[in-house]
Amino acid sequence: MSILYRSDAARAAGWANYFAQHAPDLDFRIWPDAGDLKEVEYLIAWQAPAGFLAELPKLKVLFSSGAGIDHVDLSAVPAHIPLVRMVEPGIINGMVEYVSLAVLALHRDFFDYMAHKANHVWDPLEVPPASARTVGVMGLGSLGCAVLERLAAFGFKLRGWNRSPRTLEGVETFAGADQLQPFLAGCDVLICLLPLTPATKGILNRELFAALPKGAALVNVGRGPQLVDADLIEALDSGQLSRAILDVTEPEPLPADHPFWAHPRVFVTPHVASMTQPESAAPILLENIRRDQRGEALRDVVDRGRGY
Ligand code: GLV
Repeated sequence: MSILYRSDAARAAGWANYFAQHAPDLDFRIWPDAGDLKEVEYLIAWQAPAGFLAELPKLKVLFSSGAGIDHVDLSAVPAHIPLVRMVEPGIINGMVEYVSLAVLALHRDFFDYMAHKANHVWDPLEVPPASARTVGVMGLGSLGCAVLERLAAFGFKLRGWNRSPRTLEGVETFAGADQLQPFLAGCDVLICLLPLTPATKGILNRELFAALPKGAALVNVGRGPQLVDADLIEALDSGQLSRAILDVTEPEPLPADHPFWAHPRVFVTPHVASMTQPESAAPILLENIRRDQRGEALRDVVDRGRGY
């Protein structure tokens, strides 16, 4: 049985070590030292170009090395090959950390104090309790749910919006296009954790910003193409939105002359909110391979119709 890892080189050794220790029966290969491609049955990859997949006649499962799969051209993956999303505690914890940090920094006015510091200004702002703010999460998958659970511990009021209905304790949930506006109307901080699909491309636009309370803040940890950049700048400049924290942009890297860099109320990080951690991801991926070997159903298979 051969597995080929063709993703971030810096983390390859972590994957290889785990498989060497826990699955010595599996032949774990790291790109470009791939050996005979005709033997490869499992591929762990970020990009899976059609031409490359065509060289793997024995491929049984394609594992995305990241949570998102929007970068994979599904039409290039033969219909009999399942594509598996990366759902693992390391990615979830990273996202919970990043979003908690973003929400707390907004809640406790850290961005204002950064500006005050630069100007040598001592100006204590009001400190409302967390219960005075409502945080809304778009996308109630494993990441969105974990983020909401942690934010609950701080005492924020919580809302969630999802394509299909979900029930979460302590969270007011909304579903589908009809309930998007009522959901937005109560969000002081809006977190986007949606997968990128044709339905979510450009969803963070002028109309959506106008449905938020005046002065709301946006945190985009979904995908860059979900945001209409010019609409965000307009909403920030009119005061409709107070701030935006963006971990994802379109394109990436964000070009040096993009207006987000210089905008005083946009904070950009270079797509680092959360990353697959080999130590926690490898056991889950291995368990999925074992399931496949036993002829059992795989976990976290992408629904091609839904696109995530
Ligand atoms: C990162 O964006 C991922 O999809 O894992």
